[in-house]
Amino acid sequence: MWLPCTLLIFLATLTVVNCQNSAFDITNQIYLLRPKSGSGGHLIPEISCSSWRLGVEAHNIIDWKQIPTECSDYVGHYMLGKQYREDSKVVVSEAFAYANGLNLTNDGNNVWIFDIDETTLSNLPYYVEHGFGIEPYNATAFNEWVDRSEEPSLPESLELYNKLLSLGIKAVFLTGRGEDQREVTVKNLKQAGYHTWEKLILKGSSFSGKSAVFYKSTERKNLEEKGYRIIGNIDDQWSDLLGTPTGNRTFKLPDPMYYIG
Ligand SMILES: *[C@@H]1O[C@H](CO)[C@@H](O)[C@H](O)[C@H]1NC(C)=O
Ligand SMILES: *[C@@H]1O[C@H](CO)[C@@H](O)[C@H](O)[C@H]1NC(C)=O
Ligand SMILES: *[C@@H]1O[C@H](CO)[C@@H](O)[C@H](O)[C@H]1NC(C)=O
Ligand SMILES: [Mg+2]
Repeated sequence: MWLPCTLLIFLATLTVVNCQNSAFDITNQIYLLRPKSGSGGHLIPEISCSSWRLGVEAHNIIDWKQIPTECSDYVGHYMLGKQYREDSKVVVSEAFAYANGLNLTNDGNNVWIFDIDETTLSNLPYYVEHGFGIEPYNATAFNEWVDRSEEPSLPESLELYNKLLSLGIKAVFLTGRGEDQREVTVKNLKQAGYHTWEKLILKGSSFSGKSAVFYKSTERKNLEEKGYRIIGNIDDQWSDLLGTPTGNRTFKLPDPMYYIG
């Protein structure tokens, strides 16, 4: 059990916890806790947190800074319960079914774009301690966490990664993390089970102040100009899949914790 005991107190109403073995183990998967039934808290006056989440995932609700206060419990239960993992599983199953159905020319130029945070790696251990997105983003605290290289994989994405490699599709990681976090990112990817990639693209200084959409679509264009074919693109933010070229198909993983514009 990698969740620290302090936060398990927060979750004490959810499940029986065992605090004796609190050593963090990067190879451990994201644990499934028992979610509360029902649709969670209600926003004033009358939309439920599950409707809010649907609005977020469908990109009807945009440019939000933090999750609604009333939905902190709901988002926590969603992320740590079965639903997040089941929703993620549907995304990767569709992605693999699509890739597996293609008749690809195996010339080494087929790539699949993977975002990193909340796609290949999970920051859940961090967000558990920061109210699942209820606190304003704290770059200092978040970067300290990233520098520890302790993020587990999102297991569904790791499975997709391995299956795509077996089809001869190469992985390209495209992340909003800066070049200064290359070393910790490489270390973390390897520890989490991602052992090889064609490219790891981090945000260079020439993109500072530019939007995520501009940065990521420019980098995808660069890849295509180098002769790569972007077969698919998986990520947790709409800013990862807007802007041309997107890649032949895009797959959006759930993320009700934060919004990147
Ligand atoms: C797959 O592509 C190859 C080469 O483009 C072609 O010869 C073959 O007929 C295709 N197979 C199917 C099942 O479409
Ligand atoms: C942000 O995180 C740092 C490092 O943990 C902490 O010292 C600082 O107080 C935090 N800032 C705010 C506004 O919470
Ligand atoms: C990807 O899209 C391009 C441009 O629309 C198309 O030519 C190509 O056949 C597509 N590839 C696959 C694998 O669907
Ligand atoms: Mg992400």
